[in-house]
Amino acid sequence: MAKRESFFQIRLQENIEELKSLYLGLYHDEHAFAFFLAMLGEAYRARKASLRQRDLSRKEHPDYRMSQRMLGMMLYAENFAGDLAGVQKKLPYIKECGVNYLHLMPLLDSPEGKSDGGYAVSDFRRVRPDLGTMDDLEKLISACHRRDIMVCLDFVMNHTSDEHAWAKDARQGDPVAQARYFFYDNWDIPDQFQKDLPEVFPVTAPGNYTYLEDCGKIVMTSFFPFQWDLNYANPMVLNDMTDNLLYLANRGVDVIRLDAVPYIWKTCGTNCRNLPEVHTVVRIMKLACEIVCPSVMLLGEVVMEPKEVVPYFGSPERPECDMLYNVTAMCTIWHTLATRDVRLLRHQIEQIENLPAAYLFQNYLRCHDDIGWGLDYGFLGGFGMSEAPHKKYLNDWFTGKWFGSPSRGELYNDIEMLQDARLCGTTASLCGIEAAEFEQNEEALRTALAADLMLHALMLTLKGVPVLYSGDEIGMLNNYSYHEDPKRFSDSRNIHRGQFDWVLSEQRHTPGTTASALFEGLSDLICIRKKNDVFRSDAPMYAVDVENERILGIGRTYGDRTLLGLFNVSPEHSRAVIETAAWEELTDPDRVFVAGEQTRMEYWLEPYGFRWLIRKNVQHEEA
Ligand code: GLC
Repeated sequence: MAKRESFFQIRLQENIEELKSLYLGLYHDEHAFAFFLAMLGEAYRARKASLRQRDLSRKEHPDYRMSQRMLGMMLYAENFAGDLAGVQKKLPYIKECGVNYLHLMPLLDSPEGKSDGGYAVSDFRRVRPDLGTMDDLEKLISACHRRDIMVCLDFVMNHTSDEHAWAKDARQGDPVAQARYFFYDNWDIPDQFQKDLPEVFPVTAPGNYTYLEDCGKIVMTSFFPFQWDLNYANPMVLNDMTDNLLYLANRGVDVIRLDAVPYIWKTCGTNCRNLPEVHTVVRIMKLACEIVCPSVMLLGEVVMEPKEVVPYFGSPERPECDMLYNVTAMCTIWHTLATRDVRLLRHQIEQIENLPAAYLFQNYLRCHDDIGWGLDYGFLGGFGMSEAPHKKYLNDWFTGKWFGSPSRGELYNDIEMLQDARLCGTTASLCGIEAAEFEQNEEALRTALAADLMLHALMLTLKGVPVLYSGDEIGMLNNYSYHEDPKRFSDSRNIHRGQFDWVLSEQRHTPGTTASALFEGLSDLICIRKKNDVFRSDAPMYAVDVENERILGIGRTYGDRTLLGLFNVSPEHSRAVIETAAWEELTDPDRVFVAGEQTRMEYWLEPYGFRWLIRKNVQHEEA
């Protein structure tokens, strides 16, 4: 026991100075800080021996995060297998996909009909009853750990549901509970705030405040009216929310996803996003984990422009988030598919190249949310593309309105005046599989499948942890049934939040089916990736010019090997000009190149074709 305590004490002593100065700098409240420290001690004492062991071994071998063997998948328990026990039964399928990092979408208690897909939590310590119990969650997590799968859970920290106990007390007039939120008697202050506040959901939930008729107050609601923003300027909020975070960590969760983190601090006269205090709060939470549960990683959900995203890594000495979504790469990939022009993506890769190797991104093509067109319009402006018409082009393309587009998506938060509509749809439907199957057009289907696989290969090549969106591995199409569901019809994100199609998945090994083309194609790529350390997240990545704007060239180097990834983003045969070398094709080991006389050689790719070429070389390839 004494030894166990000492780990806590050592880690506390290592970090106490910084923790104290950050905390008191924010709150000037010694009493609240004493409470915070006591809470950390409690959380550590409550941590199971097996998890403490995990903390120690992960700390000793932190390298696993950078491994090319990491592969994620995100899924909704209810859509995938009914409930948590169902997910546990289906773990062999998840293993078969090669996944060792599982993001279980929000599963804590959340009122039906006003849950925003689980992102309105009414109890941070209770699992939604239709999904199971906390006990089921712990069992599922242990089962995952036994299979070497890490588990990620959402921590919805910006707001609570209006049915959370704090919100209920606040409605009843309890001033202590009201002080946890932003409560006002009249519109004076909200009006001041609103001058600089953009709207998150301009169509589905306009405005940033909600008038509560029953108590005659106004409450801040940046997202939906039933999601009340928490006031982190109140130290009780930080204390209790950190306690909730550690409670989840103590259930065995390996990765905590900090939902909507840029929004958590509000200052009048600003847009209330990415304020310096947000970074202080995140660093405090990181230190809390470092002291109590050092194996737990923080994943920041920062859906912002690149210059706002990167600061959430903190500095190498004072890290904040361990991992961040590569949201810019995600939307730029879709832009690249629609424009058949790789210049922006190449530019982005060059920017990532300059970041410290320790920064870990999570790469993805699709997730549960919409695709927002947060592209680098400064850069695109250089090619004559301006923001509003370009967004319109992308939206027209991906909703199939553009002549010849095979894509089938739906718009999200479309307001003509704002000209900032976003987009929803599954990878398969956006790549044209839905349209080709509907039209029974085999050639179009082949092309769409090639595009889908090429995008996945591209995602697997990027530096960082690739994460599949459940259903994409078998080519699940848009689910239009939400149009008929009164609780879901107003939110088009539901188009890609359908039930997992187990019947379709049964075809995953049946040759000639869409499901097998994708599943087996992807499995091969994942297998290759896991075997080759040039895909490690700390292996440098750089853009390679192949003298064709329709082909993206990505270089990765590790040890004495260099990878060249080639991706044809157009539906036509395209030619790359690459360095002549004794390349080997990872996807077709029988094809070997011979280093010739010339320094450059031509290399042709079929429509939406891709290649992973590898060579032994001690020299670093020039971009
Ligand atoms: C995050 C979630 C999104 C949710 C929002 C509000 O952005 O990804 O689904 O609507 O937070 O909690």
